[in-house]
Amino acid sequence: MSDVSLDNLDQHTADLLNAVAALSSLEELVTRESSLVGKRSVLSSLQKSLGGLTPDERRDAGARLQESRRRVTEALEARRVDLEAQERRATLDADRLDLGDVVGPTVSSPLEPGHPGIIAVTQLALEEVFVGMGFRVEDGPEVESDWYNFEALNMPPAHPARGMWDTFYLEMGEPETVVLRTHTSPTQIHLMERAVRDDALPIHAVMPGRCFRRDTPDARHLAAFHQIEGIVVDRDITFADLAGTIDAFTRAYFGPDIDSRLRPGYFPFTEPSAEFEITCTICRGEGCRTCSQTGWIELGGCGMIDPAVFAAVGIDSTTWSGFAFGFGIDRCAQMRHEIADMRALIDNDLRFVRQFS
Ligand code: DAH
Repeated sequence: MSDVSLDNLDQHTADLLNAVAALSSLEELVTRESSLVGKRSVLSSLQKSLGGLTPDERRDAGARLQESRRRVTEALEARRVDLEAQERRATLDADRLDLGDVVGPTVSSPLEPGHPGIIAVTQLALEEVFVGMGFRVEDGPEVESDWYNFEALNMPPAHPARGMWDTFYLEMGEPETVVLRTHTSPTQIHLMERAVRDDALPIHAVMPGRCFRRDTPDARHLAAFHQIEGIVVDRDITFADLAGTIDAFTRAYFGPDIDSRLRPGYFPFTEPSAEFEITCTICRGEGCRTCSQTGWIELGGCGMIDPAVFAAVGIDSTTWSGFAFGFGIDRCAQMRHEIADMRALIDNDLRFVRQFS
């Protein structure tokens, strides 16, 4: 640096501005601040030397000195703002999580991509079989009124058949008027009502969905489970159409070495009614714990739609006839994949879950 003298003020100023521009960190700026513009600075020494000047010289030199100090101070503040921004950016860069590395294919990661669960896969496979047989896939609500879950299905209040379904009632409206559907059969009522309203008969549809029963889970039952309902309403439909449909479905889904059979049964919404069963896949018909030693597993129920149900939805049962069926999707998964205990479906044990990816 040149001699400390007011004659060299321009040079001093230029040196100071260069020094400010060369500051490379906030830390350096703070350390050097007082030597650049503070008490220990050239500018302060020059300020002191003003005392030896004449008043006119002092005024003139004082103004120049003030101007220099303003320029250096401004440059220093600008540099401070720059350095702060630079350092903030560096911190952000250092802290940034590179998610590409976390889930990228080259780095082993604790996160596995998910995959559809066994129930969803089974439901899709069942839908595919039925779509191939000419059925549409429809949907229905999981919360139902008493009318849809029971009454329109030919179970008036206090009908003993209501006891076939251990019902969860919701605390909504009058007591025992809103339920978690105990089966997918109420979707039949919705579909038929809609078809009547829209003048859209015939109906050939399947309706998969979740159902709920106040049941204690065991090897064959879950309290929240899945069914798929089927309904055909058309002209001249007979029990033979129903039996043929069940048989075609069983073979398409389980394969030719699994037999199915219909046994007389009772459901309030069908007449006649039947239960349909397939060979237990766990023991191949020999008898085991899963099938209670019978060699057969009940998949669901079916029958010809009762005229009382047609009357409830306003379908003329002298023109139209139909059949319906409903069975467990979880039960199908259990049989197709030979799962001895259905509770494995909800245990979330990854050793089980991963077998179906
Ligand atoms: N909803 C009955 C159940 O959950 C199964 C069933 C039986 C459905 C006969 C039907 C049917 O559509 O016609 O136990």
